[in-house]
Amino acid sequence: MLKPQKRLCDKIWVDGELIDWDDANVHMSSHVLHYGSSVFEGIRAYNVGGTTKVFHLDAHVDRLYDSAKIYRMEIPYTKDQFKDAIMNCIKVNKFEACYIRPIVFRNVGAMGVNPFPASICCAILTWIWGAYLGKEAVEEGVDICVATWSRMHANTHAGIAKAGGNYLNSQLMKMEAITNGYVEAIALQTNGYIAEGSGENLFMVGKRWGTKHPTIFTPPLSASILSGITRASVIQLASDIGMEVVEQTLPREALYVCDELFFTGTAAEITPIKSVDRIPVGPGKRGPITKRLQEELFGILKGEKPDVHHWLTPVN
Ligand SMILES: Cc1ncc(COP(=O)(O)O)c(C=O)c1O
Repeated sequence: MLKPQKRLCDKIWVDGELIDWDDANVHMSSHVLHYGSSVFEGIRAYNVGGTTKVFHLDAHVDRLYDSAKIYRMEIPYTKDQFKDAIMNCIKVNKFEACYIRPIVFRNVGAMGVNPFPASICCAILTWIWGAYLGKEAVEEGVDICVATWSRMHANTHAGIAKAGGNYLNSQLMKMEAITNGYVEAIALQTNGYIAEGSGENLFMVGKRWGTKHPTIFTPPLSASILSGITRASVIQLASDIGMEVVEQTLPREALYVCDELFFTGTAAEITPIKSVDRIPVGPGKRGPITKRLQEELFGILKGEKPDVHHWLTPVN
């Protein structure tokens, strides 16, 4: 038996029970291994001024259930039971702040593509995960490229679903980026317009044609992107500071002439981008609007600013 991955937490919730890390294994015949049949979430809990709080618990659980519905997986728990299980996992593992990975997958009972005979397994892992794109990235920004791989076209994979199989496309992008010396890649849609990063949504700051006022742009949900929960939060925070976010189809070349560019995501939080394809973004460092939005978001997550939109749920 292979040694499992280094222990990241003590207990993993599996189908209603908290079990030891070493016992949380799947069988080789599991449908998910062969056909990518899983849906999952990525959630963060923060130490908010001394209290552990989960960011956007409801929205993440809603998205998990939507993903499962699209792939016709029945989760045998109510959303409230699932939320309780998430909270319990954080508590028993004694984390003050952590990343949370609920996953629902097709387990054993089917060797063919037809997934229906396979049982459904639900699990929740938790671990400590620092800055996803590097420690310095949050201030200094990252160097990225445009991937030669496109994002899935509409009506191929279900883009709204956060499904394991979608991340084969993400892995192609990510491997291309890393192999060529970049931290991350942006994929275009099959029509050539900008979609998103391998695990992040994308925002751009530039002047709207014919005006002098900086505007924040982001590709629309129809651009083969995941409907990011951080993306929605940043749109709200921008509005709170009096800036409009325009959801608009964006051409690749806008990446090279915009003033600021940044990623958003649960893992990446808000990460500035300092170059694309070796072309500096603006002056090649984090821009003032990116910084301001980081201050707004991180202020709430540290408990230094009030959580006026009720995005945080205390673990107790
Ligand atoms: C492909 C992709 N896009 C965007 C995001 C950002 O979504 P969220 O802010 O909900 O984490 C993620 C992360 O889950 C992702 O994997």
